[in-house]
Amino acid sequence: MEAGKSLRIGVIGGAGWLGGAIAAAVLDAGIADPRDLGLSYRSTRPDRFPDAFWTADNQALADRSDVIVLSVRPADWASLEVDAEGKLVVSVMAGIRLSALCERHRTRKAVRTLPNAAAEVRKSYTPWIASSNLNEEDRAVVRAIFDACGIQDEVRSETEIDYLTGLTGSGPAFPALLAEAMMADAIAHGLDHRVARRAVNTLLVGAGRLLEQRDDCPTETVRTFLDYRGTTAAAIEEMMVAGFGEAVARGMTAAFKKSVSMGETS
Ligand SMILES: NC(=O)c1ccc[n+]([C@@H]2O[C@H](COP(=O)([O-])OP(=O)(O)OC[C@H]3O[C@@H](n4cnc5c(N)ncnc54)[C@H](OP(=O)(O)O)[C@@H]3O)[C@@H](O)[C@H]2O)c1
Repeated sequence: MEAGKSLRIGVIGGAGWLGGAIAAAVLDAGIADPRDLGLSYRSTRPDRFPDAFWTADNQALADRSDVIVLSVRPADWASLEVDAEGKLVVSVMAGIRLSALCERHRTRKAVRTLPNAAAEVRKSYTPWIASSNLNEEDRAVVRAIFDACGIQDEVRSETEIDYLTGLTGSGPAFPALLAEAMMADAIAHGLDHRVARRAVNTLLVGAGRLLEQRDDCPTETVRTFLDYRGTTAAAIEEMMVAGFGEAVARGMTAAFKKSVSMGETS
C-alpha cells in the first residue's frame, strides 16, 4: 500500500459484528479515511460510522471501492451477486474457497482470511491465503488490514485455513470451555458463583497478559510447572492421564471436518 494513501474499502455486511469490528480497526489505523470507507447493510442502517458511505446496494458499494471485504454469513453469500471485476476481494467467511470467490465475483484477485472475535480488541489472529494474481501491493493491503485487527500470517494452503478455522476462528471459545469446567469444579467444591467466576476470569486475563509480555512457548510453560513438582504438576499429570490432549485433538478434528464440509456445500 502506498504510504499515506487512503484506501477505498467497502465492507459488504458492514452492519454485522465482524464487518463492523474490521471497519473500526481500519479507521483507527488510518488505513482508510471515513469518507473512503463504505459499508452495506441488509435490514437496518446502523448509527455507527456516521461519516462513512452506507448503502443497501452491494454493487454500488463494490463500484466505489478498490478493496471489497465480504463479511456476510456463508449462507447469505449464496445469494450475493456482486461483480468485482479487477478488484481485490477479501473474504472473512468461514469455509468459502478461493476458486468460488473468484468465480462468483468475476475477479482473479481473491483473498481468503479467517479472523476471530478478538478483532474487536485488535487481538485477532488472522491466517490468510491469496489467489496467485495478487501483487506485492495487494498483499501489503491485506497485511495492513489484518495487522490493524491484531496479528496476521499468510499460510501455505487452504487446508491450513480450514484447520485454523477450528483452532483460532473460535476466538475465546476454548479458553472459555476450560474456564467453565474449572468454575464448575470450584462451585462443586463449595465456592460461591461470584468468587469462582472472578477467579477463573482473572486467571485467563492474567495468563493472556503474561503471554503478551513474554511470548513464552506453551510447551516451556507446562514443562516449568511440571519441573516445579507442586500442586499444578499434580493437576497437569492427572488431566493428561484423563485424556486432556486426546479430547483437544478430537475437538480440533471435528472443527476441521466441519470447516471443509462448509466449503463443499457452498
Ligand atoms: N463472529 C466471528 O467470531 C467470526 C470469526 C471468523 C469468521 N467470521 C465470519 O464472518 C462473517 C460475518 O460474521 P458475523 O459474526 O459478523 O455475522 P453477523 O453479525 O450476522 O453479520 C453479518 C451481516 O451481514 C449482513 N448481510 C447479510 N446478507 C447481506 C446482504 N446481501 N447485503 C448486505 N448485508 C448483508 C447481515 O444483515 P442482517 O442484519 O440483515 O442479517 C449482518 O448484518 C461470517 O461469514 C463468518 O463466517 C466470523
